[in-house]
Amino acid sequence: MYHSKISGLGYFVPENIVTNDDLSKIIDTNDEWIQERTGIKERRHVLKGSGETTTTMGVKAAQIAIDRSGVAKEDIDFIVFATISPDYYFPGPGVSLQKELGLNTIGALDIRNQCSGFVYALSIADQYIKTGMYNNILIVGSELQSLGLDMTNRGRSVSVIFGDGAGAAVISREEDSTKGVLSTHLHSEGEHAKELAVLAPGMGGRWVSDILAENDPDDESYFPHMNGQFVFKNAVVRFSEVINEGLQANNLQVSDIDMLIPHQANLRISQFIQNKFGLSDDQVFNNIQKYGNTTAASIPIALTEAWELGKIKSGDLVVLAAFGSGFTWASAVIRW
Ligand code: ACO
Repeated sequence: MYHSKISGLGYFVPENIVTNDDLSKIIDTNDEWIQERTGIKERRHVLKGSGETTTTMGVKAAQIAIDRSGVAKEDIDFIVFATISPDYYFPGPGVSLQKELGLNTIGALDIRNQCSGFVYALSIADQYIKTGMYNNILIVGSELQSLGLDMTNRGRSVSVIFGDGAGAAVISREEDSTKGVLSTHLHSEGEHAKELAVLAPGMGGRWVSDILAENDPDDESYFPHMNGQFVFKNAVVRFSEVINEGLQANNLQVSDIDMLIPHQANLRISQFIQNKFGLSDDQVFNNIQKYGNTTAASIPIALTEAWELGKIKSGDLVVLAAFGSGFTWASAVIRW
């Protein structure tokens, strides 16, 4: 059986920095509240009218990942694009990425899976490579969330958390079975779907024509809704479970972890997990302070930055762990 490895990584974030103080000029919030509860100091928001989209950011991140992988564009066999903020309701951004990068007419699969999207994408790529169907797969997590947030006081507990950006990886065949992706673990629990969701537009809820016909200024259904404390409580439990599941599947101990990259949901969640597992600051990487929660992009942005900073070296055991809307949660265990 073949194995897969990450052969190239890249990320892109818009230049425009929005600090907590900047937000406090638009909505009733303040730096102390945001930092105390989430650890976030600033995030990136695309400038309205700049032409930047989920696809364009994904393309920039992907180009870096491809260049670093050493894989020629014509040798990329498949695309998996994870996002909850696609440019269009359909088609998804995978096809736009194929065009913009000038890739062959290869398959492009769009997935959602929210904050777990990148780990789901990695798992899909890993399976295709294991079966021998493909050799090189481009996976992307990209989000333009800022233009879809409720920037009034009503939405303040959600809107201060999220940011824009993209991360990408090229997943390639690895001959050495002791290296690369050792295992991936995926979960969902739809019972709590509405605890963190954008409910409209959707065929099962309200379609665009309903929203337009009603023209209700108090309609919140197309903004993200989050039951923050419920999400927090579930996140810390599921993060722990899925990290343990990954370790057990590979007969590894917590002490074997060289680097844990948690989805950047909230610094308090990451710190809770770090303390629970007794990991040192060198064993966990966080950058939510600079970028906020970038949903499907958060893990590839953090992974790339940790790698660029030399915090991940050949032979290291790297664990990716995610939890998000759905609920969905997932982990990947990688020998670098
Ligand atoms: N600024 C100032 N005050 C605020 C703000 C704000 N931005 N937002 C809410 N408040 C106020 C509330 O009105 C409330 O005031 P009150 O007590 O007078 O009624 C008070 O702060 C507490 O509000 P809560 O909503 O109870 O705040 P909480 O302590 O739960 O913190 C938070 C909210 C930060 C969202 C927290 O619940 C959390 O981080 N949850 C996890 C969320 C998460 O990680 N989501 C992402 C995971 S999934 C994914 O990535 C898609």
